[in-house]
Amino acid sequence: MDKDFKSIRPVTDASRPGVYIETYGCQMNVNDSEVILSLLEDEGYALCDSMEKASLAIINTCAIRDNAEQRIWGRLEVFRQLRKKHRLTVCIVGCMAERLKEELLEHPAVDIVAGPDSYRALPGLIKKLSSAEGGKQIDVMLSNEETYADISPVRLDKNGVSAYISIMRGCNNVCSYCVVPYTRGSERSRDYRTILREAGELQANGYKEINLLGQNVDSYLWTEDRRVDFAALLRMTAEAYPGMRIRFSTSHPKDISDEVIRTMASYDNICKHIHLPVQSGSSRMLELMRRKYDREWYLERIRKIREIMPDCAITTDIIAGFCTETAEDHLQTLSLMEEVRFDGAFMFQYSERPGTLAARRYKDDVPPETKTERLNEIIRLQNRISLENNMKEIGRRMVVLIEGTSKRNKDELFGRASNNKVCVFPSNGHKIGEYAEVEVLDCTSATLISKTI
Ligand code: SAH
Ligand code: SF4
Ligand code: F3S
Repeated sequence: MDKDFKSIRPVTDASRPGVYIETYGCQMNVNDSEVILSLLEDEGYALCDSMEKASLAIINTCAIRDNAEQRIWGRLEVFRQLRKKHRLTVCIVGCMAERLKEELLEHPAVDIVAGPDSYRALPGLIKKLSSAEGGKQIDVMLSNEETYADISPVRLDKNGVSAYISIMRGCNNVCSYCVVPYTRGSERSRDYRTILREAGELQANGYKEINLLGQNVDSYLWTEDRRVDFAALLRMTAEAYPGMRIRFSTSHPKDISDEVIRTMASYDNICKHIHLPVQSGSSRMLELMRRKYDREWYLERIRKIREIMPDCAITTDIIAGFCTETAEDHLQTLSLMEEVRFDGAFMFQYSERPGTLAARRYKDDVPPETKTERLNEIIRLQNRISLENNMKEIGRRMVVLIEGTSKRNKDELFGRASNNKVCVFPSNGHKIGEYAEVEVLDCTSATLISKTI
């Protein structure tokens, strides 16, 4: 979930002012960039594939770890150089904008700073910048209501097959290491009717898969005209669009209910994959992280998922070297990984974020070399487990939704199975956006090498 994304589409209309968009951080940020593009298209802008051709640059930033922010400071230097030769308005939005506020505005390459709940204000901020009162502009107000529910995002993906729908914003948990509640504000759920409408629009535009997004989808709750919880939302979406595949993330171990698991099992079009971040295998660490579950609770949730859906893939997030983590705590993480045998994991070294509970109360006392050693050990173990899990898929048949052409070989396509595993296979007349049945012939730790049948 926490990958770097850079979504660029070619210039759609050269006669209109160009906007260049760069997106960092999670899928929610990608979807936010799509909301921003929709708002700017209404103002006459057209998406542009390079900053040299653009008059406006939007940098949608992430603050989750220090290295995410360092990368943005590096990009700002590039913009500073470019502005010596080319007129370009630079607008920093997203989580780092929200966290650093005026500090970012002071940078010579920055004209506008806007936080995740201020995107509707962007056109006004851009106009003000060049007006009589002029000067740099900032809007970092967080909101308890904003969900951009009425905006149809302009999709930035290239394949036209799979799209994101944000079903909620913000987060009400206070995991002690995490900056998200400070950068995205409190949790709010979006009107389920607008979610269903957006899914319908995507289907009408040929999309085959939707990804429902939230920091903690299990706490989705709409109560205005009727009560709709996450299980109900899943059921309604699966029934309204039986031809669409439905995925979602992120699930929280403390909140994922039996009802959600049973709902997943009841519908073929709900994909059999759960991203369930564990963070650590040590109950002592989980307590310090304020995750509100312990190792036993997590393992019980895994048992429940496997009891109801034996073929469901499970992936996770792990943090190495959180405050006071001992060699024994680290071993507990490794042993939990062996016990659960995750199909994949995003693995990170702990990075202290200013203002969080951990930064205020605990000492970041695991030496950097130890963090790196532990992370490397976690990565090595996960690679081995992913490979072993994938080897078990050899000989199996699965239905994949074709997403694109293989990077290595243009005669090959790739697609995802319901369990989110990526299959690569000779195209054999198949096209992007179609379903294909494949048989797995071989694998790496990341890919299932297959043939169509
Ligand atoms: N809402 C999701 C994840 C959001 S952030 C959840 O609760 O699981 C994505 C991942 O980044 C987290 O799961 C965590 O593993 C990692 N992360 C968050 N803060 C971090 C920090 N300060 N240092 C290192 N990793 C962090
Ligand atoms: Fe951060 Fe925890 Fe919220 Fe996830 S649930 S976004 S880790 S505070
Ligand atoms: Fe996402 Fe990064 Fe913000 S992970 S929620 S963009 S801090």
